Amino acid sequence: MYRVDSSGRVNLIGEHTDYALGYVMPMAINLYTVLHAQEDEKARVYSQIFREVKEFDLDKIQRAGDWADYVRGIFWALKEEGHDVGGMKGILGGDLPIGSGLSSSASLELAVLAFLNEAYELNLLPIEMALLAQKAENEFVGVPCGILDQFAIVHGKRGHVIFLDTDTLRHEYIGFPSDVRVLVFYTGVKREISGSAYAERRKVAEEALRLLGKRTSKEVEEEDLRSLPSLYRRFFGYIVRENRRVLEARDALRSGDVRAFGELMTASHWDLARNYDVSSEELDFFVRKAAELGAYGAKLTGAGFGGSAVAIVPEELALDIAMRVTDEYVRHFNWEPDYHLVSPSDGVSVRRV
Ligand code: GLA
Repeated sequence: MYRVDSSGRVNLIGEHTDYALGYVMPMAINLYTVLHAQEDEKARVYSQIFREVKEFDLDKIQRAGDWADYVRGIFWALKEEGHDVGGMKGILGGDLPIGSGLSSSASLELAVLAFLNEAYELNLLPIEMALLAQKAENEFVGVPCGILDQFAIVHGKRGHVIFLDTDTLRHEYIGFPSDVRVLVFYTGVKREISGSAYAERRKVAEEALRLLGKRTSKEVEEEDLRSLPSLYRRFFGYIVRENRRVLEARDALRSGDVRAFGELMTASHWDLARNYDVSSEELDFFVRKAAELGAYGAKLTGAGFGGSAVAIVPEELALDIAMRVTDEYVRHFNWEPDYHLVSPSDGVSVRRV
């Protein structure tokens, strides 16, 4: 039998840039989807969260609109790419919260793929696994996501943040200071990125690139945007500035300047809120409070529209900030948020048990 631990992720900076082939800086976090599995003829999976078994035939893989589509999608994508695999039986659990913007879907896809890769000796490279999981999500599940989440989960490395150029897929590991804590704060507002807003942002970005005659957002300067219709100019202006911030953030972290890194994160949040229209009252509340209470920086993480925010904070303030933000949030919104103190961790790993 195999056990797979597949992490979630937070993106520290570089939001909504991946589908415009820009820069991102995520890390894998120590909240995991855990899969215990064995080879079998059919595919049969039990989810401890949904408390049900889903079963399907490998020759008739069809979307059903439920959580097991992420499992079906991986079998489908493998087949599409010409890989021959048998089935599986498995149990899914773990402590990675679902639907809170920490990439539980990519984490689940990669748990299944990592198992199949090992059990059926597919010898897929990490990058091939990331691209295959993205294909499952784009073409089978129907969410037009970029490569950020899948890449962070296959390449996550303990103690490190990943700087990734989503165009060339070249990456660099940068050590994350051990006396800085990462606080993730789930607003309690569910996020469905298969919803139209995410797809719309992506469409605008692609259309803007087409109008500008450029292949990637890396090649675009703010002056180039003058000819675009105003909404395109506003949205794409954010992407151009965010790419620049990620490069500055990479330099800041390379030289151990956490303060500068944090300020770039917070600047990213307010640009996302004011010019990309993907924040919410709850996310803004968290970012404002965390900054007031002494965080180096804070921002929404992932797609936004609810979901989670992330703050990087000095170790000695971490618990105070978590406590006070939670307390004030409950009073303000009459709603209990979740917080997690996480660290940069290894991504997906498989072992025999
Ligand atoms: C979601 C998508 C990613 C990325 C982020 C925004 O998490 O899955 O590909 O676009 O939103 O940065």
